[in-house]
Amino acid sequence: MSQPPVLISEDGIQARVADLAAQISADYEDKGDIVLIGVLKGAFIFLSDLSRRMTIPRTIEFIAVSSYATGSISSGAVRLVMDVRGNIENRHVLIVEDIVDTGHTLKYLIGILESHRPASIRTCALLRKAESAEVDVPIDYVGFDIGDEWVVGYGLDFAEHDRTLPYLGIVDPEV
Ligand code: IMP
Repeated sequence: MSQPPVLISEDGIQARVADLAAQISADYEDKGDIVLIGVLKGAFIFLSDLSRRMTIPRTIEFIAVSSYATGSISSGAVRLVMDVRGNIENRHVLIVEDIVDTGHTLKYLIGILESHRPASIRTCALLRKAESAEVDVPIDYVGFDIGDEWVVGYGLDFAEHDRTLPYLGIVDPEV
């Protein structure tokens, strides 16, 4: 089977993840223990690389939402599949997302996590499709801005496939 064409190489991703980890570590240096909340499933690889490169005290939580049925059309309707398990009250929270497309998912997540009364919430996304934004949602740390393409690999899927590609590739959802 042919491999999806490369959008961002493995080395390119790793270099940017190292930059983000350094920046986040510097920004949170005086804040004590922070909690990184990975958004399943797409952020699992990004979270594991990012968290291992950080140099500040940190713990890991996961939250799971579902926003697309199986394909690539955003319905805008987001559903909570699994909430965080640990207590995040009065903690500094960093949401770690794979990609922000319309912004509905991230906006929904911020609402859910605010209800747990953290000390602060910031957001980090490996990828942002700036042209596709439908809602105004703050993204404090962005890995790469990309166009309106369907991206797979490094945790991201198309209909559950291609998550384990080491690079970010492009697929045509029509094919
Ligand atoms: P949003 O709610 O439209 O911002 O969509 C965010 C979610 O849609 C992400 O967390 C991904 O799970 C998924 N998504 C959006 N675009 C892509 C893509 O190009 N590849 C893989 N997943 C995507």
